[in-house]
Amino acid sequence: MKILITAGPTREAIDPVRFISNRSSGRMGYALAAAFLRREDQVLLISGPTTIDIPDHADFIPVESADDMYRAVEKAINDCDIAIFCAAVADYTIAQPEPQKIKKDAETFTLQLTKTKDILGSARDPLNFSGTLVGFAAETQDVELYAKSKRSKKKCDLIIANDVSREGTGFDSTENEVLIISEFETIKLPRQSKENLGHILAEIIADYHRARQE
Ligand code: CTP
Repeated sequence: MKILITAGPTREAIDPVRFISNRSSGRMGYALAAAFLRREDQVLLISGPTTIDIPDHADFIPVESADDMYRAVEKAINDCDIAIFCAAVADYTIAQPEPQKIKKDAETFTLQLTKTKDILGSARDPLNFSGTLVGFAAETQDVELYAKSKRSKKKCDLIIANDVSREGTGFDSTENEVLIISEFETIKLPRQSKENLGHILAEIIADYHRARQE
């Protein structure tokens, strides 16, 4: 099977030397990539900047901005059986990035931001992806409720939800504790390393995909 995975943060340029980004380490997406590769699936990893080594044998497309990531996904998604959106994509980008470095002349400084495209939310429409679609939901409250609504709004098969307000799990940590939400049920996976979770999630996603084909 061919699996597309987005991972890591995006960077939205303010000028040639500055950007807006977030705390995503990319670990969960890279762990999933490694887990699918171990199952001998083909993996296309589309990743924002991280410090993690690229898993051996993965096809790899490095990207910077949310727009770069959208364009890479748009090109590749319909050649894939499963698409998993792990990336922490910026929701807003700089309306007019400056071509030259901004000088600190002004006492106050306002940046105008505009919304980025929702890549996961575009997978079904307008991108016409008909494979198994998996999204992540980072929440700080009412995790299951918000994640369920994200699942239906973004037309995903599965949503993997985590509470990012907890110490030591989720964003920029080595461990995670997640809920896997499908149309049938919610499964809770207890706190464990992202490597371990990657293997369990890869099996659950592959089983779901197989059942969806039958
Ligand atoms: N996502 C995406 N493109 C975006 C924003 C998010 O593909 N521009 C994907 C993420 O990779 C993740 C899912 O959407 O799989 C949910 O991301 P999250 O940040 O939790 O949700 P948002 O859609 O940004 O909603 P909100 O921030 O309002 O909770």
